[in-house]
Amino acid sequence: MIISLRELSYDELKNKLKKDDEIVLWSCDECIKHCGLGGMEQLQVLEDLLKRDGYRVQKDLISRSCFLNLVRNHETAVSHASTIIVLACDLGYTCVKTVFQDKQVVKTMNTVGTGNYTVYRGPVLTSPLPWTKLEPSENGYTLKTVSEKLGLYPSFFDAVDTVDLVNIVVDGKPFQAKNGENLLDALQKLGFRIPHLCYDPSLGLIGACRLCMVKIKGRFFPSCCTEVSEGMEIVVNDDDLDEHRRLMLEFIIAEKGLDVTKRSRELRYWTRKYKLAETRFKLKMKDQQVDDSSEVMVIDPSLCVLCERCVVACNNVSGQHVIDFAGRGSDTQMITGLNERFSETNCASCMACAHYCPTEAITPKLLIKKLAIKQKPLQPIAPPLVASSIKSRGNG
Ligand code: FES
Repeated sequence: MIISLRELSYDELKNKLKKDDEIVLWSCDECIKHCGLGGMEQLQVLEDLLKRDGYRVQKDLISRSCFLNLVRNHETAVSHASTIIVLACDLGYTCVKTVFQDKQVVKTMNTVGTGNYTVYRGPVLTSPLPWTKLEPSENGYTLKTVSEKLGLYPSFFDAVDTVDLVNIVVDGKPFQAKNGENLLDALQKLGFRIPHLCYDPSLGLIGACRLCMVKIKGRFFPSCCTEVSEGMEIVVNDDDLDEHRRLMLEFIIAEKGLDVTKRSRELRYWTRKYKLAETRFKLKMKDQQVDDSSEVMVIDPSLCVLCERCVVACNNVSGQHVIDFAGRGSDTQMITGLNERFSETNCASCMACAHYCPTEAITPKLLIKKLAIKQKPLQPIAPPLVASSIKSRGNG
């Protein structure tokens, strides 16, 4: 993986911006994320910081590697911006600069070479670039060591720790959380388990599944689409919420059958918790065809719970716009292209949709093959012993 470190302080970054700039924060979800400096979470932190300081800013993330063609797919989404702040390696920065020549592109990272990820030490630099004047090292240098030697920063923007904390009350107990933080994230960090299907921090707000409801001042709110604020009083566990969650799960089971709950850890946990083995609602199961025409993925619509993650991932993460919903009400279904077979669309095979699908409705073919190999009965490696041979050995 490519190893990059931050080269600007937060104040230096702000010095490059004007108050009337339309800013887009840009990152990719690969190496830079593993270095702890990129990906959606860091984009979110920087967006919060800049918004707090009065800047107009939004985020844009691409899934794997900031190659030129992937950057180009985001041209429309970024067209309104006057400044792009790039949280990516030097390659990503060069690609963004090449595509958006009419905009100010701010570089925040410095690429120091390539390396790998170790469980105990995190990312390490094994093959430094010549300008660093560091010798190649099999064991690798930790980011802290590299930053000290090169005068760079090993962690995210310094001002992160100064984000406001506010007081909230959850189920009658006092807690602190970041002001403006996504409520579902905050509750999970505080140790509360809230059911959710469509929310993923790296996809932004979707609000489709309605499983993540909590109560604020006696009213239901989807926690994934609510921001933390001072004095918020939240109920996450009571009879009304249990009844709502049960109802939502029953709708899913009525439409997709109990099998779908086995395909998702989240659904499995909550259906077991509520002891849901059947549903009060009887719906006719739709006859839907599996589409295995793609070279890399299989779509099984009978497992699709319409959480919309694949649609958002294909649009926002990959920039391909291949997946969408068609129909209304109970006829709503996920389609590819203009309701074509997957192989006939301009799918880039980035597999962002499969990565985000919570129920295996879109599955990488490789995974299916691996599962099939796993499930194959084991062949005996030697002919089984016959009773007579056991006896003769026992007697010997
Ligand atoms: S997780 Fe909040 S609506 Fe789906």
